[in-house]
Amino acid sequence: MDVKKRIDELEEELEKELEKVKTQAELLNVKSRYLGKKAEISSFMKHMRDLPKEKRPAFGQAVNEGKERFASLIEKRQAFLKRRSIEKKLAKERVDVTLDAPDFRVGSRHIINQIVEEVEDLFIGMGYTIEEGPEIETDEMNFEKLNLPKDHPARDMQDSLYITEETLLRTHTSPVQVRTMLEYGGKKPVKMICPGKAYRRDDDDATHSHQFYQIEGLVVDESTTMADLKGTLLVLAKAMFGPERKIRLRPSYFPFTEPSAEVDVSCANCAGEGCNICKNTGYIEILGAGMVNDYVLAASGYDPEKYQGFAFGVGIERIAMLRYGIEDIRNFYTNDLRFLRQFKA
Ligand code: DAH
Repeated sequence: MDVKKRIDELEEELEKELEKVKTQAELLNVKSRYLGKKAEISSFMKHMRDLPKEKRPAFGQAVNEGKERFASLIEKRQAFLKRRSIEKKLAKERVDVTLDAPDFRVGSRHIINQIVEEVEDLFIGMGYTIEEGPEIETDEMNFEKLNLPKDHPARDMQDSLYITEETLLRTHTSPVQVRTMLEYGGKKPVKMICPGKAYRRDDDDATHSHQFYQIEGLVVDESTTMADLKGTLLVLAKAMFGPERKIRLRPSYFPFTEPSAEVDVSCANCAGEGCNICKNTGYIEILGAGMVNDYVLAASGYDPEKYQGFAFGVGIERIAMLRYGIEDIRNFYTNDLRFLRQFKA
């Protein structure tokens, strides 16, 4: 038998069979048939003994080389199968980036908080501190120290929600003026704002809410004037309603300021010409302010002979309503996502 020729034949057969092999199991099967103990090529070695000595090395070498060639063919196929299975897997796991993404609901800051942060940034830039006070307040802080003694008729301006005889839900953020001055001990200048919630015993309607937000402002120093107040409020009005805005101060009354003023901003809708939003006056009332009443300074530990200051209080909902044409204050608190989403920053 011509072993070399037979090995070549077998190699050709093996190649053809391997082409058809699709799985690892099939491959193992082929491998055992061509290289296993019972494989034809393995039986050749038994014939070696029958050969004359000098022919044995060449014979052995031919068989071994044959085995190596078979093994390398099988290995190649194995590598090919492996590669193909990875490719198939990758094709199956491919991500289609053109598919529509699911509708993720991303939250956002409430419009009230957005405005608070805007105002905070503005005033921090002018050297103010941000102060806080309790929402459950004492009658003393909420009223008495602000020059509103128990029987004062101006208490009627703010219908209150009392918890006990002496405690109530604060009706405004003004008590934080007192708290801050007391904390400062009557010695150093005060420059603060306090954003926060306030409560009143109001029936809710389009323009009234039993809870609302205010920002209180207070500056106390040795030479603070009403001109400082006006300049500061003009900066605020421009920041809130646009750089063209003007403001106007009208005489008013608050127990905690003297003199007191009601502050109007020129109507952003008609630029002061007169329209139905400003009721043809060209101006819209936005806040209350004034020079801190001597009584309040003294009650909070500051010597009115030495110190003077200005204060203001502004409703945040009012700012938002004017800025965005919101007609019902209840929208801020009823958590209708269709409303809230309009203010995604
Ligand atoms: N506390 C007042 C209110 O809630 C608003 C206010 C007016 C605050 C004048 C002030 C001020 O600080 O000076 O109606």
